[in-house]
Amino acid sequence: MTEKNSLTLIDNRSGRRIELPIMEGTQGPAAVDIGRFYRELGYFTYDPGFLSTASCHSELTFIDGEAGVLQYRGYPIEQLAERSSFLEVAYLMLYGELPTRPQLDEFTDIILHHSMFNEALKSFFRGFYHDAHPMAIMVGVVGSLSAFYHDSTDITNPRHREIAAHRLIAKMPSIAAASYKHSIGEPQVYPDNRLSYTGNLLNMMFSVPCEPYEIDPVAEKALDLIFILHVDHEQNASTSTVRLAGSSGANPFACIASGIAALWGPAHGGANEAVLRMLDEIGTVDNVPRFIARAKDRNDPFRLMGFGHRVYKNYDPRARIIRRMCHEVLDKLDDGQDPRFELALRLEEIALQDEYFIERKLYPNVDFYSGLIYKAIGIPVNMFTVMFAIARTVGWVAQWMEMIGEKNQRIGRPRQLYVGPRQRDYVPIEQREPAGD
Ligand code: SDX
Repeated sequence: MTEKNSLTLIDNRSGRRIELPIMEGTQGPAAVDIGRFYRELGYFTYDPGFLSTASCHSELTFIDGEAGVLQYRGYPIEQLAERSSFLEVAYLMLYGELPTRPQLDEFTDIILHHSMFNEALKSFFRGFYHDAHPMAIMVGVVGSLSAFYHDSTDITNPRHREIAAHRLIAKMPSIAAASYKHSIGEPQVYPDNRLSYTGNLLNMMFSVPCEPYEIDPVAEKALDLIFILHVDHEQNASTSTVRLAGSSGANPFACIASGIAALWGPAHGGANEAVLRMLDEIGTVDNVPRFIARAKDRNDPFRLMGFGHRVYKNYDPRARIIRRMCHEVLDKLDDGQDPRFELALRLEEIALQDEYFIERKLYPNVDFYSGLIYKAIGIPVNMFTVMFAIARTVGWVAQWMEMIGEKNQRIGRPRQLYVGPRQRDYVPIEQREPAGD
């Protein structure tokens, strides 16, 4: 980044003037460095929800929300979706360049050979109720990994950081599958290192010891593609959570567990599960206008799940790719179209013609169609966000490594605008009156 020019601010209250350097990135909006703002003007900047705040600089992912552009390390998502694989994209995110064939083979071998987790963890799963949400299990189990891997939690050691990243990417499918097996009362299935990354996940989720299981190559490829689309998305809520947790020096397993927790929210990664439930609630196309009206009603908490995005004010490029995939995958996997796909298409068509959605630039996001493909693959609705977490672990660990690897890395510690009571004195309990309503 080069600081080419600056922003001059004059405080009309004090007449003080400050020159703030403008930092240019390689693509996208420049940023104003406000690091001296409080020290020199005595004010905090105020931006709840961080609509205009860059929390860091990063070389990983670029989004142009107006144009609907997404690039990983400069490569357009459309090209990676078309020609790459999830583990090749994982290598790209961790190391900055597309791997050669020997590099990819070695990386794939490392990941597949880290896919088992400590046998002692099996009893951990048994401690959860059978109806525990798999995301609750994921948060607990991933957070507990640091109890097993003391040999890779010295975050000042780049090699430890790399091993922890490999372990997390490798073990997420195994932990996810074990969470699923626990919820349906079936025995856990160990990873099989002869299988692909997504083939392994499907086998661990759906095979049973008493009969052969054949991995459907359409499902295996569809999952790999969906995982590519979910790898990273610059400073979204869960990634920012991972960075903030990591900035305190917390171990990588705890940081990723915090990312899983943040992802679970229905406004974020939990939306893919919420979309399917919404489509089931809508039921048929003739109910669509009533739900669109509810989504527009400020007094109704109902929102069109899978619609809208903080950054994309255009069609989410990932949604466009998944929408196209739906036709192909549903035809092959589903014997007859899932009626919810037709419903989703009509819902999108009606919403995108409605002034409310047009003026607010609300388009389908990555979560709007992804659940339909997960469903066609046979993944249960309560595992949809788990799928998102498996893929996003690559982005989380890459962002964490980028931050921890910076020389002047500091703990993240935002301030606030205090609007509470002014100073007051303690009142003995016998002299207190009930507070007024
Ligand atoms: C992901 O950040 C990322 O990059 C996330 C993600 C990633 O890869 O990490 O892309 C993954 O989380 C995708 C988003 C999944 N969430 C949903 O689909 C839930 C439904 N969407 C919304 O809750 C909402 O659109 C958000 C949370 C996604 C974005 O919220 P913002 O940016 O805070 O927008 P907002 O709430 O301020 O909305 C602006 C206006 C409001 O109306 P007005 O106050 O102007 O009248 O648009 C309205 C909102 O009421 N609005 C919606 C709506 N989304 C926004 N109205 C109805 N239905 C919706 N879905």
